Amino acid sequence: MRRKLAAGNWKMNGTAADLAELNVLATLMPADAPEVIICPPAPLLYRASTAAQATPISIGAQDCHMQASGAFTGDISAAMIADTGAAYVIVGHSERREAHAERDRDIRKKAKAAWASNLTAIICIGETLEDHEANNTLDIIAGQLAGSLPSAVTAENTIIAYEPVWAIGTGKVPTLDQIAEVHDFIRSKLAIRYGADIADMIPLLYGGSVKPENAALIFEAENVDGALVGGASLKATDFAPIISALAQS
Ligand code: 13P
Repeated sequence: MRRKLAAGNWKMNGTAADLAELNVLATLMPADAPEVIICPPAPLLYRASTAAQATPISIGAQDCHMQASGAFTGDISAAMIADTGAAYVIVGHSERREAHAERDRDIRKKAKAAWASNLTAIICIGETLEDHEANNTLDIIAGQLAGSLPSAVTAENTIIAYEPVWAIGTGKVPTLDQIAEVHDFIRSKLAIRYGADIADMIPLLYGGSVKPENAALIFEAENVDGALVGGASLKATDFAPIISALAQS
């Protein structure tokens, strides 16, 4: 059985006071909850990890540098993230690909840097609206998988999040058939590259306007193992029903 995961990406939202949401979330989570990860902004990682110790929630970062250390003002290394107590790091989010010009090969190096510090990499892929409208989605996804994933991917060190750029923060969600098609395609590509045994166990998350209202439908797709949630992860009262929907799927 593949593990199910619900990950919340707080993006550039939240200060220390918002960490109270972790305890609220823990009380609202069902007893049979899947794995839950919260990725707060970097300055909150240490406090979040400490606060989450009394809960079943795990903590992740939103990005890491590809190098272990050096003259990279403002960046943080995977070792620094691990040092806060966090266990996961998102790499290749489309907001970083766009706003920070990150390329597939940078993301591949970041995933390797994450592994070197015993962090699980949550590698993001997804097509733009332009690619979507030109029916290029599967080509783009194939290219991002080939370029962003290192050769040593395992079901323990990697989670893949499919986030169509046009669905992020827009309230627009692909149809269930579209989500299923891309997730099936990702699983088949992983099987070709890493073998069916590994591919079958890698968690595939869907991200992009996941809300309490649409989560149950999205989780119906066979190869959707959970969600990477932005806006609806900020408040425990929004995120908890998504977690419950995943537990019931
Ligand atoms: P929203 O859930 O706000 O659309 O964001 C999705 C996302 O980018 C998560 O990484």
